[in-house]
Amino acid sequence: MCGIVGAVAERNITAVLVEGLKRLEYRGYDSAGVALLTEQGALDRRRRVGKVSELQAALQAEPLAGRLGIAHTRWATHGAPSERNAHPHFSGQELAVVHNGIIENHEELREQLKGLGYVFTSDTDTETIVHLLEHTLKSYADLADALKVAVKQLHGAYGLAVISARQPDRLLAARSGSPLVIGLGLGENFLASDQLALRQVTDRFMYLEEGDIAEIKRDSVQIWTVDGEAVERESVQYHEGAEAADKGEYRHFMLKEIFEQPRVVQRTLEGRLGSDHVLVQAFGPQAAELFAKVKNVQIVACGTSYHAGMVARYWLEELAGIPCQIEVASEFRYRKVVVQPDTLFVSISQSGETADTLAALRNAKDKAPGQGGYLASLVICNVGTSSLVRESDLCLLTQAGPEIGVASTKAFTTQLVGLMLLTLALGQVRGTLDKALEAELVDELRRLPTRLGEALAMDKTVEKISELFAEKHHSLFLGRGAQYPVAMEGALKLKEISYIHAEAYPAGELKHGPLALVDSDMPVVTVAPNNELLEKLKSNLQEVRARGGELIVFADQQAGMRNGEGTHVVNMPHIHDLLAPILYTIPLQLLSYHVAVLKGTDVDQPRNLAKSVTVE
Ligand code: G6P
Repeated sequence: MCGIVGAVAERNITAVLVEGLKRLEYRGYDSAGVALLTEQGALDRRRRVGKVSELQAALQAEPLAGRLGIAHTRWATHGAPSERNAHPHFSGQELAVVHNGIIENHEELREQLKGLGYVFTSDTDTETIVHLLEHTLKSYADLADALKVAVKQLHGAYGLAVISARQPDRLLAARSGSPLVIGLGLGENFLASDQLALRQVTDRFMYLEEGDIAEIKRDSVQIWTVDGEAVERESVQYHEGAEAADKGEYRHFMLKEIFEQPRVVQRTLEGRLGSDHVLVQAFGPQAAELFAKVKNVQIVACGTSYHAGMVARYWLEELAGIPCQIEVASEFRYRKVVVQPDTLFVSISQSGETADTLAALRNAKDKAPGQGGYLASLVICNVGTSSLVRESDLCLLTQAGPEIGVASTKAFTTQLVGLMLLTLALGQVRGTLDKALEAELVDELRRLPTRLGEALAMDKTVEKISELFAEKHHSLFLGRGAQYPVAMEGALKLKEISYIHAEAYPAGELKHGPLALVDSDMPVVTVAPNNELLEKLKSNLQEVRARGGELIVFADQQAGMRNGEGTHVVNMPHIHDLLAPILYTIPLQLLSYHVAVLKGTDVDQPRNLAKSVTVE
């Protein structure tokens, strides 16, 4: 989704801005632009539809240099992806703005501003901000003062950065609903929507909080709350290795991230397992006391994280005996929910910034426990500095490291590990989990990285199978029990990166409709661990074969499934049934990856999609 980079320095910062945009490319976007205050004291910009490389080419053809500037990658919401809609947006030649988020009252503001004589040159909601600010500057000469007043008139979500030709020593920023971070340098300072954009220039960051307005100069940073009160925000050192920004030996970030899974799963387990039990304090010092009171769990998430939550529901009910509900955040946040007493609200998110999930958490915190509210909130998240982590009572950080590929892979498997730890911790504290079973699962978790490595070793076999999809336009994914959400995640991966239509069904639902679609043009992918549902699943597969459907079955080596005409069986390492969803995810990720490579799509940045969806 949209990305922001800004800088104020003593040197030409064009390269810093462009490199920052490149680092944000993974988030998904459709146009890019940069505006600088030139040595002549005028604002100038370059904007291009398409990749940052197009913008770079434009900058090579017509260079721009300056010591104060802002840059943006845009993911279109209001107005088509076009050069005139790309940011930065100007008001006259004095002011430039870049913006992430959505201004909901933009139509009303546009009318008012047109009435005041402002001429709009784009279809964006963002352009209203820059003209509104220009108008406010007529009454409040100082840029920070004007911004404080102007943002009060904006409804919706924004992370924005502003520069002015008249006040050339400062970069202004405001945050409400879209994250912003200040990068602290020596005699120069930076701004971005994600610290990854600034890792090449600094490792010290200051995170803006909701409502904050910041004035960033070369050698100072001043921050005010929404009420205009000056505040200090802590500066933190970022320790993540530089590894993430580099594909290494891999052709795509997605493949690199798939292969990182044994290591990051290992990291997610580190320090969280005792000899035969889960360490409950891994969820925070007050976790044991809180978990003892939990009688229900409500999970809320989006996309791949939602699928992780769906798997967790099977675990929580089966292992910990806790009733669990799960819902996508975009639905949950607008629904009148009846909260059962002593319900733990659990959100799951890779980024920790997904707008709907964050809004759902905020709604959940509206009412106090005992007065129709939740007992407490817990987040399973990959970014320790994110809004969801800061606003939740408890958190468990998945240690996946930065995930660059838009299609989520290692974040999903580490979320599953986190959710298994949560299930065991809740079961342990509430005394509903058999101690021997907990010890067995702890043992199995320790062996999980090795099992994941074995599954990855099947890469070449899966690559061969991917050829079956080269000419196909549709596919079905089937699973039963906790493998149903795994099938959903497999189908999501395939559609996200190969653009092949893929639908997932619980295998038992096949006869209630989807069977009508099955013919030799519709490959059917199935995950078949060796559990009590295996025989039922085998019957479902017969139903597919009888209609000429081609089957791809990822089956436990002990499941007794054989290759045959129209049936391609890939034998999977044997694993404890409760951990099978984590293992069976791997071949489905590899399958979608290889199909996408065959199709020649943009694997790491699939069309129309964004890594972190910070708008509704
Ligand atoms: C976007 C991403 C998905 C991700 C979803 C939820 O759609 O492309 O990969 O699963 O957002 O994101 P979150 O950061 O909350 O897990």
